[in-house]
Amino acid sequence: MLSAYDEYYGRVSRAQVARIAAISGLRPASVLDVGSGPGPVSLAFAELGARTFSLVDSSERALEKARLSLARFADSPGAPLSVSTAVADIESLEAIPDGGFDLVAFGHCLNEVGRGDDRVGRRLAIARRAARAVAPGGAALVMDPATLAASRDSIALRDALLAEGWTVRAPCTFPGPCPALAAGPTQTCHDEAPWDVPPEVGRLASEAGLDRDLIKMSWFILSPPPRRAEALPGEAEPRPSGGAYRVVSMPMLNKGGRVRYLLCGPGGRFPFSARRDDEAARAGGFFSLGRYELISVDEPEPREGGWGFGARTAIRRLGSLAHAGRDGIGCSDVR
Ligand SMILES: C[S@@+](CC[C@H](N)C(=O)[O-])C[C@H]1O[C@@H](n2cnc3c(N)ncnc32)[C@H](O)[C@@H]1O
Repeated sequence: MLSAYDEYYGRVSRAQVARIAAISGLRPASVLDVGSGPGPVSLAFAELGARTFSLVDSSERALEKARLSLARFADSPGAPLSVSTAVADIESLEAIPDGGFDLVAFGHCLNEVGRGDDRVGRRLAIARRAARAVAPGGAALVMDPATLAASRDSIALRDALLAEGWTVRAPCTFPGPCPALAAGPTQTCHDEAPWDVPPEVGRLASEAGLDRDLIKMSWFILSPPPRRAEALPGEAEPRPSGGAYRVVSMPMLNKGGRVRYLLCGPGGRFPFSARRDDEAARAGGFFSLGRYELISVDEPEPREGGWGFGARTAIRRLGSLAHAGRDGIGCSDVR
């Protein structure tokens, strides 16, 4: 089962970390990998240049597999790694060491902590302890599944951390409580993108009868208080007066013939639309916007509680992920 996890979901987790790094510019040198399992999150950050790792999990067999994978990676020229592992319950006090890690990563493990009404509180307690392990200027990464329930819990944790003075560094540019969570129990926000599926994963997916042409996840990069967040590489461009907005939906066509996206940023979460035959919008790149792209919009037209693409409107693409691709709503699969 562990090998099956590593061969299948391990590769999904690695692709997810690669996408998060592409969107956010996140490039830690040292990583505390909490709930590491067989180590795909650490391996993905090793591929991105990290060299110091501390992994924590309740399963010694998973940690053994992680040590092997990282040792294999370390054999490649120029990749000496420092790796330590510890068996611990991540809710225990000793699970999270004090220390200066650039990144404390929670890859698909916080969602496994608690099922009752106290689950977000229990996850919050773990994240609070993680704050001690984050070096000045560092961050925590929370990566959870994209299902409605899991992503709403993930957002609830984000909001609880913000209420305690944490700063969300990516993907949100809206610094307040998540508007999607407040919009009602059927609403959520998650990342989703086409994936060039590795052949091994494709084979396992077809044998197991799983759909696998997208990667989907909820994720947040957050800095603990009281440090002020520094700009992430890739977000270093000065923001125009309108601010930076994340595209948080697929394109949707309404009965009036307008294509509409949801944007989320300093002004909240609201629609941005254009007529589907609007040539200026086409030339301006409106119809090729992808989920989780970071944009600014010059001179949008106020419209229906949001913005329309008008004659003087211009879209500027910010950040390092130029085009996230088309995607679709719906997530029958966990991730
Ligand atoms: C779904 S796997 C995620 C593995 C890897 N981080 C990833 O992103 O693919 C969840 C891991 O969290 C670990 N885990 C869950 N609850 C835990 C707990 N309370 N204490 C320690 N480890 C825990 C499990 O043993 C498992 O290895």
